Amino acid sequence: MLGAIQLGVLAACVVVLVPMGMAGYHLSRNKMLFFSGALFITLAVGVHLTPYFPSVSDFVSTVSSVVVIDNRRSCISILHDVVWDVTHSPNFDPVNNNSVNYDKAWGWTSSSRVSACGFQKLGRSDVSDLLNGSWVVVAGDSQARFVALSLLNLILDSDGIESVKRDLFKRHSDYQIVVGEIGMRLDFIWAPYTTNLTDLVVGFKRNRNYPDVLVMGSGLWHMLHFTNASDYGASLRELRDSVVSLLPFSPELGMDGPVEGSVPVRSPHLFWIGIPTLINSMLNTEAKRERMTDTMRVLYDRELRKSKLLRQSGGPLLMLDIESLSWNCGVRCTVDGMHYDVPVYDAAVQIMLNALLIESHQKL
Ligand SMILES: *[C@@H]1O[C@H](CO)[C@@H](O)[C@H](O)[C@H]1NC(C)=O
Ligand SMILES: *[C@@H]1O[C@H](CO)[C@@H](O)[C@H](O)[C@H]1NC(C)=O
Ligand SMILES: *[C@@H]1O[C@H](CO)[C@@H](O)[C@H](O)[C@H]1NC(C)=O
Ligand SMILES: *[C@@H]1O[C@H](CO)[C@@H](O)[C@H](O)[C@H]1NC(C)=O
Repeated sequence: MLGAIQLGVLAACVVVLVPMGMAGYHLSRNKMLFFSGALFITLAVGVHLTPYFPSVSDFVSTVSSVVVIDNRRSCISILHDVVWDVTHSPNFDPVNNNSVNYDKAWGWTSSSRVSACGFQKLGRSDVSDLLNGSWVVVAGDSQARFVALSLLNLILDSDGIESVKRDLFKRHSDYQIVVGEIGMRLDFIWAPYTTNLTDLVVGFKRNRNYPDVLVMGSGLWHMLHFTNASDYGASLRELRDSVVSLLPFSPELGMDGPVEGSVPVRSPHLFWIGIPTLINSMLNTEAKRERMTDTMRVLYDRELRKSKLLRQSGGPLLMLDIESLSWNCGVRCTVDGMHYDVPVYDAAVQIMLNALLIESHQKL
């Protein structure tokens, strides 16, 4: 506790000069992803009353929150600055001369900007704290399935994860799990096309019930079966419109206030799972090699940007950039040029969790 107080005082002194994350410090103190109204009010009142009732812990929260808000945007923009260390495994298997022969490890770069954000790989207890009591929906194609698996892998023990794998990887089906100890529910929804995602979002709206964290992605199936970028773009715009109409806050207005007539609800945290790097020569069918070309990939990317679905183009979803992660991990991280080894999705999940941490402070 003494260390924490000193840290708080230090932050107070250098609040303008030193961009400190302090996310981990917060994490251990609060079940902090979804601030209840009560906590929100406590902190808001704390800001004003601190001079009169200088409770140290309120003071520390307030100071570190201010610091985090200042740096929120810039930290989110560099969340994908990771480096890979891909090395030969000690047990070389010449029969399967592919990605199994390489060990992969990743970490955030050690640039001063990145270290100032204090990103961290969260372990089981941190994630349990963060997602305690929340409803997480991961929807999309096989990329989304791997993201769901990486997330569950952080929460469950090894026995738990084995049985999850069996059910989750049943072809083309939905999956649901409730992790009793932390009251977390995770749904994986098989939704290979963007239209399926739109249907899902429309369903949430109709039922007036939507998850705390919604992670979606699609594109590969459309590229393979329709091979029509402008049609993909149109479906993304539809998805964007339905997501925006779901939100209590309009992304254009920032987080200013509730839309008139809507129930005052917390906003879900929204993520988009990007299409991975495609290594054409490794794709495992002729149809894939013909249709999922680099040119097509570029056109699909352009449509994604044009659709304004993503935050970086003014939309509601934060991109989990699987393309950059898979590109940096490289050819030794994939067997079929399209699905990558688990560490790539682990990295995406850690990026998402760090974004959640950063965003939780945004509401203060
Ligand atoms: C394994 O594959 C790589 C290229 O992917 C090649 O350079 C290497 O010689 C191969 N090793 C063996 C033992 O076949
Ligand atoms: C989850 O939250 C509940 C209620 O806030 C609490 O009782 C429980 O101990 C928490 N569980 C974990 C694993 O943090
Ligand atoms: C997804 O959408 C496609 C095309 O609109 C449709 O044919 C298919 O049944 C849908 N799949 C699911 C799982 O909803
Ligand atoms: C691509 O999709 C658009 C919009 O759905 C449609 O108008 C166009 O004819 C399609 N192009 C091809 C080549 O199928």
